[in-house]
Amino acid sequence: MPKIKFRYSSAPAPSPIADDVERKIDWYRQRGHEVPPRKLIKTPEQIEGIRLSGIVNTGVLDLVESSIRPGMSTAEIDRLVYDYTVSHGAVPAPLNYGGFPKSVCTSVNEVVCHGIPDEKVLLREGDIVNVDVSTILNGYYSDASRMFLIGEVPAEKRRLVEVTKECLRIGAEAAKPYGFVGDIGAAIQRHAEKNGYSVVRDLCGHGVGLEFHEEPEVAHYGHRGTGMLLVPGMVFTIEPMINMGDWRVTVDERDGWTVRTRDGLPSAQWEHTFVMTGNGLKILTH
Ligand code: MF3
Ligand code: CO
Repeated sequence: MPKIKFRYSSAPAPSPIADDVERKIDWYRQRGHEVPPRKLIKTPEQIEGIRLSGIVNTGVLDLVESSIRPGMSTAEIDRLVYDYTVSHGAVPAPLNYGGFPKSVCTSVNEVVCHGIPDEKVLLREGDIVNVDVSTILNGYYSDASRMFLIGEVPAEKRRLVEVTKECLRIGAEAAKPYGFVGDIGAAIQRHAEKNGYSVVRDLCGHGVGLEFHEEPEVAHYGHRGTGMLLVPGMVFTIEPMINMGDWRVTVDERDGWTVRTRDGLPSAQWEHTFVMTGNGLKILTH
């Protein structure tokens, strides 16, 4: 009796990238473009893991949204984030990341990002605050932030928050499969500057998913057609930090984290984690 040959029994493990994707990447590489290394192109299983992490992350932000109020300390937000995250079987990614001491970043008014929750920082009527939440679930990372208005906020600051939200949407819409990372920053910079604002240069969006911060860097300024090729399966954040005044920032000398505007004017930020698909970005942190 002849041996039955199972077609796939001794075949090598299937490539995580389809042949047509491989060919397209080669086409761009041969023309001198920066292309993603294979590890940046996530498998469907990995994308599903990041999506589930994103569901917990969104739950955290929804909880903060329903709880935040004048008089609350940013340390209280930190406790909400920690308790919700661990009770959902996840870990807050910021905690002990590079020595960061808390579970979430809380950045009020002129604080651009990486604000450290503090019992002494009380939210006051008229403040704008960014709460930046990052979650690890089953080893998969997700990352998103929202702005919150505390009580009655002056129209100038509300406009900054709204335009920054538009910057995130416009940046995401500019990202097309087989476009370039630079398309995102170019669209964001154009919208921010058209509105009289500036784009923070020193901090960027980033690949995310298997680690907190992966390649590529996603600058929120720059030029179309530059930077890494965008390929379906890539997962990254877009998180524009938009300043009312000048784009320059300082880092707090004492805590080593808190980023502030140099001119002391307010800054806003919104962030989502996205996966590139065959027809544009899909949000994983809705
Ligand atoms: N969540 C931030 C981001 O959007 C990173 C914060 S790093 C931390 O990339 F250590 F401050 F948490
Ligand atoms: Co991020």
